[in-house]
Amino acid sequence: MQVKLNPSFKGRDFIAISDYTTEEIFEIFDVARQLKKLQHERIPHHLLAGKTLGMIFQKPSTRTRVSFETGIYYLGGYGLFLSPSDLQMGRGETIKDTALTLSRYLDGIMIRTFDHEEVLELAHYASIPVINGLTDLMHPCQVMGDLLTALEYKGGLSGLKCAYIGDGNNMCHSLLEGGARVGMHVTVACPPGFEPEESILSRARQEAQATGARLEVIEDPWAAVAEADLIYTDVWASMGQEKDAAEKEKHFARYQVNSKLVAAARPDVIVMHCLPAKRGREITDEVMDGRHSVVFDEAENRLHAQKAIMALLMQ
Ligand code: CP
Ligand code: NVA
Repeated sequence: MQVKLNPSFKGRDFIAISDYTTEEIFEIFDVARQLKKLQHERIPHHLLAGKTLGMIFQKPSTRTRVSFETGIYYLGGYGLFLSPSDLQMGRGETIKDTALTLSRYLDGIMIRTFDHEEVLELAHYASIPVINGLTDLMHPCQVMGDLLTALEYKGGLSGLKCAYIGDGNNMCHSLLEGGARVGMHVTVACPPGFEPEESILSRARQEAQATGARLEVIEDPWAAVAEADLIYTDVWASMGQEKDAAEKEKHFARYQVNSKLVAAARPDVIVMHCLPAKRGREITDEVMDGRHSVVFDEAENRLHAQKAIMALLMQ
């Protein structure tokens, strides 16, 4: 099987879902599905033979690190894991100088960091594609894996109803952007004070006009899950918020995805979580391990979605 890569992707960054059109998002899914088949059949697909990806991690990671590192390997390339203690950036070298230097060695950079602006700055100065592996504001690669999973389970995305239960965080932001692009309705249920950022919501709503996706933010998790095809949740305290975890838990007690809440959705609802999960907090064991859960399919699909993104951008 010959995987065709549209040259219009070449050299671009992948920082936010909203940087890509609806057609482009589906084109990425199409490549991801082809690569998944090749991978499962163990057919070599060295689309990035001899190419290198630098992976900057300022926060911990299991899925993102392993899926990018194995992903570039399966594509015939090589990945370098770069922690803050490996890079001079950890000692104050500027992002600009790091970008200009790394662009001389590598064919692409994946970065996970705190401040979203740092990723934008890195991409501005780098002459090679920069891929966002999570910031405090967004987690677009995760949502690509999630939407690919929903597509596989539901056969389509337009018109699906997704209930996002919990913190209006980076996951929630990217999910709103993803919903807007693919025509999936997203109802966020969160406690007052923990809503997604207004600027992201209003821009996503504007973009949703093209696909008909309805994006809303409410308080009541029960109202959110009514008729839901997908229930999505994430940790209540994200990386970097560990000191607020105990305080936050008080606000989120009503927002646990448990069997009772799942039973209030459609009978064929799929339950999603980006992982890592705090079992017994935002999601119960019973749901994580239950028949509606697709959380490990999402984890696997990170690999295939990101391989597609790398192959397209770094071709
Ligand atoms: N979902 C996700 O990004 O997981 P990691 O933090 O393990 O990379
Ligand atoms: N919201 C979580 C997502 C982890 C993949 C965090 O930022 O820690």
